[in-house]
Amino acid sequence: MADSWEALEKECLACRECSLCETRKNVVFGVGSRESEVLFIGEGPGANEDEQGEPFVGRAGHLLDDMLAIIGLKREQVYIANIVKCRPPENRDPLGVEQDACIGYLRRQTALLRPKIIVCLGRIAAMKIIREDFKITREHGQWFEKAGVQMMAVYHPAALLRDPRRRPEAFDDFKSLQKKINELCEHTRAE
Ligand code: URA
Repeated sequence: MADSWEALEKECLACRECSLCETRKNVVFGVGSRESEVLFIGEGPGANEDEQGEPFVGRAGHLLDDMLAIIGLKREQVYIANIVKCRPPENRDPLGVEQDACIGYLRRQTALLRPKIIVCLGRIAAMKIIREDFKITREHGQWFEKAGVQMMAVYHPAALLRDPRRRPEAFDDFKSLQKKINELCEHTRAE
């Protein structure tokens, strides 16, 4: 049977595939336009996201909104999801087993969305989506192609909050993203 957003979301919200389900308050499925040609992928929910059931709603999320605004995009125009849908305790990195248990949901979200462009927010997403040995400091802002999809990783907004000296590089990466969107996308425009 063909997959649907409704079936996928329902399954995901009831998931008990790994132990993160024991400590979560909410499953953070993903938000945004299910028609978008651009998919942003973070690492996993933090405390605010766990409370609200929505990705990138804390300080890092506000910075992401600001970066999007710089290139003329609102969060409603893109789709935002995470590698893992439940909060890892104490905001630790999601374990390999947790990522493996969860990645099927993101793969199905990607198959439904069929984005032209994927942006990995930070190292963890880049290592899972682009290449296992991805080096964020060296390779952020570079474009990769996989199965006809253009992909790039940028510094995680939380990393930019910790180290504002990296912001000019992130700004350049978002400008490159803006150019790519306007080259490739038909209805997601960044102006
Ligand atoms: N950091 C992430 O990687 N994802 C979120 O949803 C929030 C913070």
